Amino acid sequence: MSAGRAAAPDVLVLGAGVIGLSIAWRCLGRGRSVAVVDPAPGSGASWTAAGMLAPVTELHYGEQPLLALNLASAARYPSFAAELTAATGRDIGYRRTGTVVAAWDGADLAALRDLAAFAATLDQSMQPLTSRELRGLLPGIAPGLPGGLLAADDHQVDNRLLHAALLAAVVGAGGELVAETVARIEVVDGRATGITTADGTVRSAGVLVLAAGAHSGRIAGLPAAARPRVHPVKGQTLRLRMDPDALPPRILRGSVKGSPVYLVPRAGGELVIGASTEEAGFDCTARAGAVYELLRDAQSLLPAVSEAELVEVSTALRPGSPDNAPLLGPSGVDGLILATGHYRNGILLTPITGDGIADLITDGRVPAALAPFAPHRTAPQEVR
Ligand code: GLY
Repeated sequence: MSAGRAAAPDVLVLGAGVIGLSIAWRCLGRGRSVAVVDPAPGSGASWTAAGMLAPVTELHYGEQPLLALNLASAARYPSFAAELTAATGRDIGYRRTGTVVAAWDGADLAALRDLAAFAATLDQSMQPLTSRELRGLLPGIAPGLPGGLLAADDHQVDNRLLHAALLAAVVGAGGELVAETVARIEVVDGRATGITTADGTVRSAGVLVLAAGAHSGRIAGLPAAARPRVHPVKGQTLRLRMDPDALPPRILRGSVKGSPVYLVPRAGGELVIGASTEEAGFDCTARAGAVYELLRDAQSLLPAVSEAELVEVSTALRPGSPDNAPLLGPSGVDGLILATGHYRNGILLTPITGDGIADLITDGRVPAALAPFAPHRTAPQEVR
């Protein structure tokens, strides 16, 4: 569309990754008209992610409130996947494979046992595995590893299929996709009234939802205090193709001399290996050292990796937040809701974010599950 003024939907979502699309889909399901603005839907973290649904194996010390949200979203996945498939006829690759965490040496094993003890204090069980049990669960694993843990309920979805299905669901339900860059959010008398896109079009809306991942803090127009405190954390993943018989039957995570790596097998022979964690600003170039380290560590856990075809190196920016938990709810500017900062858990948190933000828009109340993640729970800081 050329410069001008477009019709105003009830809800305008900024960002067509899995988070923005799940919100759009759920709002459409509640009878709202919706437009989603994104110049390249699903080209960011939704594309690069590995699709692990890992509330337990992504558990970090000090992140107990996040665990509750992650568990609640994981519990929604079976019905969310079924509903999405029913709406679109598309499978999203939700597989209940469980996750094995393998230690490389005694020090890694001790760290894993500490993690299991911490998880137990939060009523999360991770079953200790001996070396023999590890090989029983993952026959292709490197010999001689000292043991590990089983997180039986940490599963996976194919994030790319998930994104494609959400896009189809939004379009199928009458949502409008606007392939434009958001130049600024328009705030008039303290209320967000709409946006201007890079082509100069002004789009008004009843309510705006900012779900632009790592870029959420960079959009012009908001007062500093309302700008989401997200920063980019680069992650690189690799996609390999191998003999399906050589794929591990479940997700394999490992700590190799303290260096974390994960291997996510997909039906059909794809193996996703991830991921680097790099603070490099908004730079998205692939870095050879990170690729090397991922392949080295993955191959030391699963020797068959060295025979696999390397298909793709993918890089994206996780939306980091000050406490690694998402920013969900009113922004402090009337008419603008935040749904960003999902950091390492965007794919996992897609169902609960979609439901919760749509409920907020419909009912005008922050749902209890989202309340601990109010955007202003941490003191404002400079956006990096
Ligand atoms: N959730 C895995 C990652 O962010 O690398």
